[in-house]
This record gives sequence, structure tokens and C-alpha cells, in this order.
Amino acid sequence: MERTLIILKPDCVQRRLIGTVIQRFEQKGLTIAAMKLMQITRELAEQHYAVHKGKPFYPGLIEYITSGPVVVMVIAGPNAISICRKLMGKTFGYEAEPGTIRGDFGSSRTYNLVHGSDAPETAAFEINLYFKPSEILDYTPADYAFVFKPDER
Ligand code: RTP
Ligand code: MG
Repeated sequence: MERTLIILKPDCVQRRLIGTVIQRFEQKGLTIAAMKLMQITRELAEQHYAVHKGKPFYPGLIEYITSGPVVVMVIAGPNAISICRKLMGKTFGYEAEPGTIRGDFGSSRTYNLVHGSDAPETAAFEINLYFKPSEILDYTPADYAFVFKPDER
């Protein structure tokens, strides 16, 4: 079982795509372990995207991610990190394959709807930035018997 941090970015919320995008993750058999609507402060954004500090797109990225409400989620499941990255598609909308979230709903470099952790270490770091351990729920969805064979979970 793996956990990843997913953020539905300000463009996703403003374009009323919250339900549509969450459905992609649910349909794939992943489980929502935590979720909240919030506005990211500049301080939190700078912590989250510290790895990009100094890059040309960094100021615009911080401005964008703090510009309005976002939905932040912990998504859980076997191979959740790589599955979510595949569902999201490549970073730039115009390069992302049709069928992916970024490929289906945008063509921008920056306004790419969704964030997902890219490795187990970054997932642990990012989840800890946004959630207390007590806010992350551990449960087995009712359909699980038909989503994964017992030895795949
Ligand atoms: P994310 O961290 O948001 O899940 O996206 P990612 O891994 O696919 O891409 P990353 O390289 O980590 O970039 C973080 C976010 O910065 C914006 N960006 N803009 N204008 C540009 O050249 C540029 N490059 C990156 C995007 O919003 C990207 O998701
Ligand atoms: Mg990234």
C-alpha cells in the first residue's frame, strides 16, 4: 500500500473540474485517504516547491498555486504514486497524452490542473506538509474484493 499527495490546483477548482478529476482516481481503484479544500499560503507553497527555487518558472508557479482554493488529497493504493502520475500525464498540457487528466483538460505549461508526488520520499514529505497523521484515514472500500486480488493489495 502506497500513499501520494494529490492537489487539484486553482485552475481545476475554478473550472469546476473537481468532481471530474476525482472520478479519474476513484475509477482506477485508488482510495481517498484524506481530503480538504484550502488556500495555500506563500510560506507553504515555498516549502512544497523548494526544489524549484531559482528556476525561471518558480515565481509564476508560487503565484499560481497560491492564487485560489485548491483541493488537497492523500490517495492510497498499491503503486499509487506511479499510477497517479500516469493518470495525470506529462507536465505540460500540450505534451500530455489524450486520456490523461492534463491531456484532456488543458494545453498550458503552468495551468496543468493537478499535482502528484513523484517518489516515495517526496510523497512522505508532501503529505506531512498538508496533513496531520490523525487526518489520514485507513479503511477498506466495500468494493475492494473485486478491485484487487487479495495477494495484490
Ligand atoms: P507537479 O510537481 O505540480 O505535480 O508537476 P510535475 O512534477 O509534472 O512538474 P514539475 O517539474 O515538478 O513542475 C512543477 C510545476 O511547475 C509548473 N511549471 N511551469 N513554465 C514552465 O516551464 C513550467 N515548468 C513547470 C507546472 O505547474 C508544474 O506542474
Ligand atoms: Mg513535481
